[in-house]
This record gives sequence, structure tokens and C-alpha cells, in this order.
Amino acid sequence: MDIKALIGQMTLEEKAGLCSGSDFWHTKAIERLGIPAVMVSDGPHGLRKQDDTGDHLGINDSIRAVCFPAACATAASFDRDLIREIGEAIGDSCQHEKLAVVLGPAVNIKRSPLCGRNFEYFSEDPYLAGQAAAAYIQGVQSRDVGTSIKHFAANNQEHRRMSSSSDVDERTLREIYLAPFETAVKEAKPWTVMCSYNRLNGVYASEHPWLLTEVLRDEWGFDGFVMSDWGAVSDRVKGVQAGLELEMPASGGVNDRKIVAAVRAGELDEKVLDRACERILNIVYRYLETARPDTPWDMEAQHRLSVSAAADSMVLLKNESGVLPLRHGASVAFIGEFARRPRFQGGGSSHIHSFKTVSAMEAADEGVTYAQGYRVDGDADDNALLQEAVALAAKVETAVIFAGLPDSFESEGYDRTHMRMPDNQVRLIEAVAAANPRTVVVLHNGAPVEMPWIDRVPAVLEAYLGGQGVGEAAVRVLYGDVNPSGHLAESFPIKLSDNPSYLYFGGEGNRTEYREGVFVGYRYYDKKEMPVLFPFGHGLSYTTFACSDLRLSSDAITDQEPLTVTVTVTNTGTRAGKAVPQLYVGSPRDSRFIRPVRELKGYEKVTLAPGESKEVTFTLDSRAFALWHSGLHGWFVETGEYTIAVGQSSRALEVSRPVRVTGTVAERQHYDMDSIFMDIMADPVAREKIAPYMKARTGNAIETDRSEAAKDAISDEMNAAMFNYMPLRAALSFGDGSQEELERLEALIRDLNAP
Ligand code: BGC
Repeated sequence: MDIKALIGQMTLEEKAGLCSGSDFWHTKAIERLGIPAVMVSDGPHGLRKQDDTGDHLGINDSIRAVCFPAACATAASFDRDLIREIGEAIGDSCQHEKLAVVLGPAVNIKRSPLCGRNFEYFSEDPYLAGQAAAAYIQGVQSRDVGTSIKHFAANNQEHRRMSSSSDVDERTLREIYLAPFETAVKEAKPWTVMCSYNRLNGVYASEHPWLLTEVLRDEWGFDGFVMSDWGAVSDRVKGVQAGLELEMPASGGVNDRKIVAAVRAGELDEKVLDRACERILNIVYRYLETARPDTPWDMEAQHRLSVSAAADSMVLLKNESGVLPLRHGASVAFIGEFARRPRFQGGGSSHIHSFKTVSAMEAADEGVTYAQGYRVDGDADDNALLQEAVALAAKVETAVIFAGLPDSFESEGYDRTHMRMPDNQVRLIEAVAAANPRTVVVLHNGAPVEMPWIDRVPAVLEAYLGGQGVGEAAVRVLYGDVNPSGHLAESFPIKLSDNPSYLYFGGEGNRTEYREGVFVGYRYYDKKEMPVLFPFGHGLSYTTFACSDLRLSSDAITDQEPLTVTVTVTNTGTRAGKAVPQLYVGSPRDSRFIRPVRELKGYEKVTLAPGESKEVTFTLDSRAFALWHSGLHGWFVETGEYTIAVGQSSRALEVSRPVRVTGTVAERQHYDMDSIFMDIMADPVAREKIAPYMKARTGNAIETDRSEAAKDAISDEMNAAMFNYMPLRAALSFGDGSQEELERLEALIRDLNAP
């Protein structure tokens, strides 16, 4: 298809029209030129395809589809292959349903446990979120349909989501909030990007030239088109200029007319509009040329995949005295309404009309008894339900409570205001645990909850919002038919106020400042040496694993060379299982920068038979050691001794080794009269240059060869410290203040700044 030629035939009105949707889910067709419309659909963990009467709030039902585990769950699998496989299945379904693009993955960082959409997002960690997103995109796009990675960028709360400005400093943006997008764009090349509703540092994402063009295209090489989140456009003309190609849904033509008027008035170069059309049509035809509507959609097979994905994503948080796994045939009661009606997905635009669901009770062995225990919708005291559950629990060997958060607690569109579970569920857990010491809690929730009852129960299984097969998956894991292997993709703080964003989350009016900076999640808890309920990366198994024999390809590298890290992982227990060795890079202890203690830079998922060992290899490039240097506006590796540590959680590091990394990017400093000696002496080039000057000077405050009497008055250390912090101009203040001295200093500064 000669797209440029096609655009050459389009009228100005047709071009402007192409840059917004025709309805909720379609691009515009231009029949005169034979350009067809294509359809997009939510996403991300299954298809929410609506017919033409669709509305994005889901009031009209969508087609029946398969609801896979939400991102909060799949991220915890720490399994790229699994997420890719889900992507492939969704890609097949898109082909079957004639969808060009699925609206996902959603990769915003979990800044606070409160964000209403955390269930749709992967992680508090940018590396993990980026890897998961890339795997999803690769999976879907391997089927020749597109993805729309969203919501770009810094959309980390629902509160005032369409007007609030996320005010984030440059380094924090680069290291935390943009990083997952960067990885996914570079590694997996999504066909489209969806910009977010919010403003970023005062400018709407939908009209942010730095975000949509400089960073996304010029730096990262994005070559698809950017679409707006539904209704995210404020100033359409600014948007076109900034790099927002497609406005969604339709704007009723009002914004199209504004584009036409801007071109006519000479405010918008028609070439910019042509380019937007070209980018949209490239994707339209990319889909059409490989469309395969005869692709079968085997929902039963996908259901089986959703069950195994859910099982492999569950995180065994606690398991004392071998309460789990349950024995088939043992006397067991399932308690809680979620055992009959699991909560398996969140509310809002990602809501899937599942073709079937399997509850834990439906999947349970014969003989497993049930009590409702609580009402999901009511927090009112229901003593009868509670007493009935307690009586049942007292009679069985093991009581399993299915608890978590009701739909109304977390959803797209608003944030939680606290981190508690409903009181009636907390009361139930406490009462059942008092009646039966072998009480297990299974949790269905999209984000962390406080667990004031944690010490009263021996076992907790975090099932998250595990998709339509979550009940079946939970039973498999509870009975050990699947050995749990999920690990937390987020920290569980003990209480909400421990969270680093606590003081600022939600912001004031339309302004939310990200004042905790790069210290998000475990980056904060570790730096503060704080206890947490469960740390990032934590997850137990019915077997045990050990990491040993950590080897590095070299003890010293430059930031131009890769570092290969090898570790042996052994199944030291008696059951087959999957281990998740996690690699963290620790920053130099004497770093000049304010940095997290350690950051995740690698992970693998390894299947091991009892007694079996495997070697796992990680390759680290300079980014594993780099920070974003706000002075250089670039990635920068500080020279120093870093620590490579591997273990099974961020707080269970088993093996570690130092590596010396030499940075090769010079930190070009600018010197002036206010530059202090310490900084000059720390810069090897400047240090050489200042030496002759220092030598030429005698008998003044910066002289290092001091008399005994002087040393008595001020120790060498004190003198050095004072000297360290002296600016160059001190040579005038404390010296003779002569014209010659001034000229000597000025010459020195010129020399220091010379290339
Ligand atoms: C959501 C997007 C979604 C879109 C279309 C918006 O409200 O933020 O994630 O893709 O609606 O339903």
C-alpha cells in the first residue's frame, strides 16, 4: 500500500477526520479512497469487545471472552514466558474478532497501594514492569495484531485523573515512571502507545511534545502511533503538534474542525498532519494486510491457560507448621463468600464478560464443606453467618477462608482511602482462627491489604485477581497439585502510613507532587531499614531452594562492557517446583548520589526436580548500574564498588559479590568562584590543573603544611573539612585580596573550564 500516495489524495477535512475515532472503538473509514476502519478493544487481560453501541464504562455488555489473571497477578509469576503465552492467546482472539489493537498492557508504577487501578498494573519496580510489558506485547504482536501500552505517563492515581498534574522530577521520571515504557518500547516495539489523562509537570500528556516526541520517538525509536486515552484531549491542535496522532473516542467533529482551522490559519503545518495520518494508516494497513479472521478461538483451551497462569502467579505468603499443602481426603472447610463467588477481576474498562468461571467450591474435592461466613456487600455484623462458620471450622482439620476486597473497594475511577479489609471479614478471620489453629487465608485483592490478624493464622495464600479460573487454581495450589511459585511484585507495608507516598498521595487540588522521588516501594523501605509485612520479591514454595556459587565474568569492568553473572540454583527439598532467583544491584556504599540500597536488575523462573541444580546466567549492561544524572540529562555510571546479590526475595539475598565498575561518561563540571575545593579535588582533571596554583601559594588558609601550634588549635581533620568546603573566592577573602590574586584566580577558573 502506497500510504503517502493515499494521503496525497485526501482532503484537509479527511486528514483531520482520520485523526479521531468514528465511535468508541473504530478509526474512521474514508470510503471514497477505499480506506477501511479498524477496531480496537480493551484489554488488557482478555477482550472486552463491545458492539457499535459500546460505551467505555461497560454499561453495555461486551462479548463473552476469557478473563485471564489481571496484571497484579501475572507480574507475580516472575515468568516472561507465561505472560507471553497469555499475550499470544489474546492475540489469537483479536484475530478471530477482527480487532487491530488490544488496549494494553497497562504498566504504570504502583506508587501507592491505594491507586484504584493497581490491579491492572504490574509492579512498584520499573524493571519488573518493563519485562512483563515487553513479554505481553511480544506475545500479542506475534499474532500480527497491535498493542497499546498505557497510560503514558505518570498516571499513578485515579483521584482527579483527568485534570491532576503529576509533578515529578527528571531523575525520578527516568528511573522509575518512564523506565517500564522505555524497556517495552525498545524491546517489544508496541504498535501504539496510549497517552494518559493526567498532566505531567503541568502539561497534559496528550499535548506534551517532550513526552510524545522527544522521549518516545526521538530517543526510544517508537514508530507506531499515539492514541489518547478516552477523552484525554484538551487542546487538540497542540496535541497534533506534540505527537498525538489519534484522538479517541470520537470528538463529534469539533476537534477535527479545529485542526482544519489551524492549518488554514497557518498555525499548524499541514505536513505535521500528513505525518500523523501516515502513522495511523501504517498501523491500519499493517493489521489489514495480515488479518486472519478465520483464526480459531478455542475458549476452553484458553480457560485452561488462565487456570495454570493463575496457579503459577499465586504467592504463598506464609506457611507455618506445614499446614499447606492440604491432603486430598482430609477434612476441610471452605469458608467465605469468595469460595463460592470468587473476586477474580477489577472494575472499569478492563472488565471482561467471562464465558465461564470456576469457583473454589466447584473445583473442590467431594466432602469439602462450606460456610458463607460474611456477606461481600455488607459490612454489617452478621453474627449468624460468623457463628455458623466458627462452628464448622471447629469440626474440621483445616479451615480455609476465602477473603479479600469487595469490588466497591478498588476500581478504575477512584482510589482507596485506606488499606484495610472489610471489618466483617477481619472479624471472621479472627473468630475462625480462634476456633481452629489450622486456619488458612486465601486472598482475592488487587493490591496490598493490612493484616492485623497475620500472627493468628499459620498460612496465607495471595491469589490476587486471578481471572476466571482463580477458584480452580487456588484449589490446585492449596492441595499441592501445583507448587506455588509466585513472588510479590510489590511490597506489603505493615500499615498504609509506612508507604513512602503516604504524605503526598492524591496531592492538593490538581497538583500531586512525587516528593518521595525515586524511593518508591522497596527502594524506600530498604533505605529506611524498615520492617515490612512482606517484602518485594517474597514468595514461598512447598519445597526449598538455595542459590549458591555466584560467579562474575570479571571483578572489574567499565560501563562499556557487559557483566555476566552466574549462579547455581538447587531444589533442596522433596517436591518439584519453580524457583525465582532475583538479581539485585547494590549501589556503592560511598556513593555521592542519594540512591536506593539495591535495585532489581534480573530474574529468571527455573523449574527444578527435587535435588536438581541448574545454572542461571544474567547479563548486565551499563543501565544496571546507572542513575539518571540531572546535570548531564543522561544516564550516568558512577565509578565505584557495586554489589551483585542474588536471592529469593529483596530481603532474602543468599549470595553476593562486589564488582568495581568504572564509569566512562565524564561529568563535565562548570567551575566558578563559588566552586568548592572538595569538588575540584574530586575531579581528576581539575585536580591536576589546580596543583600548580596551590603550589605557588604560601602562608594562607588553604596551606596544608601546618605548624604544631596551628594543629593544636584546629586538628588536621577539622582543617581538612573546613578546607573542603571553601569556595575558590576564599583565597581572596582570607588571602591578601590583591589584584594579582584575583587575576590568578580568574586564570585558574578559565583553565578549569577549558576543554
Ligand atoms: C481507560 C483506558 C481504556 C479506555 C477505553 C479509559 O477510561 O483509562 O485504560 O483503555 O478507557 O475503554
